[in-house]
Amino acid sequence: MFIHKKTAKGFEYIVIENKSANAKVALQGGHLFHYQKHGSPPLLWLSGKSRFETGKAIRGGIPICWPWFGKHSTDATLPQHGFARTSLFELLEVTEPDENTTELLLQLQNSTETLALWPYQFKVLLHIIIAKTLTVALTSKNCGSKSFSITSALHSYFSVSHIDNVYIQGFDKTEYWDSLTDTNKIQQGDIRINEEMDRVYQNVTNGLTLQDRDRAINIAAKGSTSVVVWNPWIDKSKRMADMQNDAYKTMVCIETANALADARNLAQDEKHTLQCIFS
Ligand code: BG6
Repeated sequence: MFIHKKTAKGFEYIVIENKSANAKVALQGGHLFHYQKHGSPPLLWLSGKSRFETGKAIRGGIPICWPWFGKHSTDATLPQHGFARTSLFELLEVTEPDENTTELLLQLQNSTETLALWPYQFKVLLHIIIAKTLTVALTSKNCGSKSFSITSALHSYFSVSHIDNVYIQGFDKTEYWDSLTDTNKIQQGDIRINEEMDRVYQNVTNGLTLQDRDRAINIAAKGSTSVVVWNPWIDKSKRMADMQNDAYKTMVCIETANALADARNLAQDEKHTLQCIFS
C-alpha cells in the first residue's frame, strides 16, 4: 500500500507500507527519510529539527548528493552537495510485485534551473526497493553530446542507540582522506567515533558493517569504491540550525559514494549506477 501525502506547506511525500517494512520518500530530492523493517527500530536517523520545506534539504534519511559531492570544485557559490537533494523528482511508478515488496522509480532531468547551475543534459533514475532489505540505486545518464564528470553520494544517516556503542567494520588498512586536517591516512582496525569525523575512504571494495548495541547493519555497495564517514560531534551539531545540540550522539553517516578519485566520467549516452543494499 502507498499513499501520496502533502504537508500544509505543499511538501509532497509518499508513505509506503507492506508486510516487510514501512517507509517515507519525499519527491523533493527523491529523499527517503524513513525506513523501518517491522519489528526493528528505524534504520535511518531524522533530525527533530529538520525542515520539510521546498528548497531546503531534509536533515536525515538518505539525501542524494549529485552531480557533485561536497563543495563544488571550482565555484564556492554553487550549492554544497549539488542540486539533486533540493530538486523535485518526478514519481514515474510505484509497483508492488508481492506483499513484501514495494518499488519506486523516480526521475530527475535537466531543466532550465539545473542548466543554470550545471550546463549538461542528463537523466537520473532513482530506484528504491522497500522490502526486508532496503535497496537504493541511482542511475545517471548523459543525454547530451558533451562528456561530464560526476561525484555523488547516497548520504545515509543511520540511527544508532548511542555513538559510544558504535563501531564500523570493513575499513581496516584502508586509506582515507581526512577532510578536517586535509591529510591522507590509513585506518587501523574498526572505526570508533569519539570526536568530529569527516573522512573519505578510498578503494573500498568489500561490504561494511555498522555494529550497534543491539543490531548490526550491513552495507553492500555496487558502482562505488569510496565511502564517506561523517559525524559532526559537539561543536558542529551546535552550529547546524537543523540539528539538535546532542544529535551527534544518535547518528552516524556512512555514505556510499563516488568521491575524489572515484568520480565517474560519462560520455554521450553513457550510464552509471551507484547502488547500496542495507540489510
Ligand atoms: C558530509 C560532509 O558528507 O556532509 C561534511 O563530508 C558535511 O563535510 C556533511 O558537513 C553535511 O553537509 P550539509 O551540506 O548537509 O550540511
